[in-house]
Amino acid sequence: MFDDPGDEAAMVRLEDVHLKLASAGGEVNILRGIDLSVRAGETVSVVGPSGSGKSTMMMVIAGLERPTAGRVTIAGRALGALGEDDLALFRRDAIGIVFQAFHLIPTMTALENVAVPLEFAGRRDAFARAAAELKAVGLGHRLDHYPGQLSGGEQQRTALARAFAVEPRLLLADEPTGNLDGETGGHIIDLMFALQARRGTTLLLITHDPALAARCGRTVKLVDGRILDESDADFAVTRAAGADD
Ligand SMILES: Nc1ncnc2c1ncn2[C@@H]1O[C@H](COP(=O)(O)OP(=O)(O)O)[C@@H](O)[C@H]1O
Ligand SMILES: [Mg+2]
Repeated sequence: MFDDPGDEAAMVRLEDVHLKLASAGGEVNILRGIDLSVRAGETVSVVGPSGSGKSTMMMVIAGLERPTAGRVTIAGRALGALGEDDLALFRRDAIGIVFQAFHLIPTMTALENVAVPLEFAGRRDAFARAAAELKAVGLGHRLDHYPGQLSGGEQQRTALARAFAVEPRLLLADEPTGNLDGETGGHIIDLMFALQARRGTTLLLITHDPALAARCGRTVKLVDGRILDESDADFAVTRAAGADD
């Protein structure tokens, strides 16, 4: 799995990553030279103002968006060297993603939502496995419910079960509690950290919540498409100031 035995511990490595997109008003520099290294098993929160490029950086790490320049290496794989099909397979096997909007398929039950990616991954025990994952997030009694019949918290628990079911090495979470009330969000986060710890999953978590960011081993701050150095005097100040938006 690792292409570079000298750097096995790096789960995520971004080197001078740039992303420019064309927009109506001309070219926009969304990521402007990102360097980031995350060790296997590490938990890292990503904070920064709205529009600073956090979600875009996560899309690049997930291989859902190709950078304009720079290198992205996940679990030793240089994503730039992978064609679309190989990239999709790599993503399916190595990366779990949880979004603010739960992104469940509305015409499928909770069980089917979790089982389908397992089936795609060739797991013969997809449905048994999916049921076990849903039980692990406390939804053993909701297997046959459709997303529309589940509360927001239950939907996000289903999304967590789906993300963890394939045992990804890397979990990317983009404001996973953004659509939930504080108490429900707190339960989701506790669950996410419990699953992460049990499986040693590397976690990258985008959040506006300073208390939540502080639960991760390390915090990186994005401002205007760049990572603000942790040693930067502004870092502590801006972080202490809390959510920027
Ligand atoms: N597809 C796109 N085309 C043009 N601009 C985009 C696109 N996606 C995001 N942006 C812009 O890139 C910047 C960063 O967006 P985003 O990564 O979503 O920030 P964040 O997650 O930190 O709020 C924003 O200014 C946003 O408007
Ligand atoms: Mg975002």
